[in-house]
Amino acid sequence: MTPTAAEQFNPYNPRFTADRFALMAQMRSESPVTFIPALHVYAVTRWQEVRDVLGDAVTFASSGAFSAGLHLAPEASAIYSLVSPLFALNLINVDNPLHKRLRDPLMAAFSPKRIASLTPTVIADVEALLDAIATGGDQTDLLQTLCKPLPIQTICRLLGVPLADADNLRGWSDALIAFQTPGLPVEVQVGAAHGLVALENYMREKIAEKTATPDEGLISALVAGRAAGENDLSEDELVADLAIVFFAGHETTINTIANSLRTLLESREQWKAVATGAVDADNLLDELLRHATSVMGLYRRATVDTVIGGVSVPKDAIVWVSYGAANRDPAKFDEPETLRCPRENARQHLAFGSGIHYCIGPLLARLQIREAVTRTAKRFPEMRLAPGAVIPEIPHHGLRAPVTLPVILK
Ligand code: HEM
Repeated sequence: MTPTAAEQFNPYNPRFTADRFALMAQMRSESPVTFIPALHVYAVTRWQEVRDVLGDAVTFASSGAFSAGLHLAPEASAIYSLVSPLFALNLINVDNPLHKRLRDPLMAAFSPKRIASLTPTVIADVEALLDAIATGGDQTDLLQTLCKPLPIQTICRLLGVPLADADNLRGWSDALIAFQTPGLPVEVQVGAAHGLVALENYMREKIAEKTATPDEGLISALVAGRAAGENDLSEDELVADLAIVFFAGHETTINTIANSLRTLLESREQWKAVATGAVDADNLLDELLRHATSVMGLYRRATVDTVIGGVSVPKDAIVWVSYGAANRDPAKFDEPETLRCPRENARQHLAFGSGIHYCIGPLLARLQIREAVTRTAKRFPEMRLAPGAVIPEIPHHGLRAPVTLPVILK
């Protein structure tokens, strides 16, 4: 008997990524909620139900959901437990009232003015990376030479920490992916767990440094807010807030830039249109976020027996809310599998989520995607994907993340 879409939906299977969107489309057309045996979760795939679930943080809690995605060997778990209190204080892993207490100070520090002030440096960083690509030969792996370095540099500038620390920070942050990938060698997981401890120590050191010598960065703003009585975050809470900015803002942006470039490069016509400035940049950005977002889905926990779109979901079930599937729901977006610019309602994508956990960084993400994509197309209008390139993606329940993006420059 042919396996159903739900039975085939296994992000840990190497053959899965090629079929990802077709399987999501099939599940979405069959039912608003599908039980996925490989993940042991209830997948919510239609735009309306995804919005409904995200909008009801009481019935669908975040606390206790994050750990459903962890695959930890006992040796790594022992080290991870040293930092797990910080994960318990992590925005994406908590419910109200703690969530509001942790989020409000971050929102205040993440002002549009602060993000706008990063525009010149993001542009300069993109241009410097493109200069290096231009002098590096006829081909490049854009993932390594553009998509990976840019977001980490941006976060360093946002936080006010030296760019020289970027490589360490990037290495440490790979831990989260390692913990969410089943079957990795124990020593890799143990190394990753040590990375998280190092990241925590680093954030504590920086908080001490910025308390003594403040600057214009986000760490100083949060520390100053605490000194002025505008927030009463404990040091652990402050570290947890900084760590989530780091984790949530980094991998997501790398992979959305990579998926966007890949999608545009798959069509000469679209690439040319971006290269010649023949598209509305804002609309393009929303359409890329709809079509090429990197966050496919995250988990929630049902706090009571409940019903989603007419389907019963039991108390304590883990629900996989799929932003990626919602963004391609034909009931919301006409011909959803096609990247189309202009698209009138592109802005209604759910790439940044919805409800109380709505992303804190859309302005910063948009800035980086826009500058990276449009400047690359303008600098290299003849760029194309390397002929015959196979672009595998990492085995992950929530991220769509390519492992390479090989291109020919002209
Ligand atoms: C294209 C890039 C990005 C994508 C696709 C993205 C996506 C998301 C999504 C879907 C959520 C909701 C999580 C949930 O429903 O539980 C989220 C939350 C969050 N994002 Fe982003 N994000 C991006 C960039 C950023 C950046 C640049 C930052 C900051 C530097 C950031 C910081 C956060 C934080 C702190 C949260 C947690 C909010 C909360 O739980 O209250 N994100 N993001």
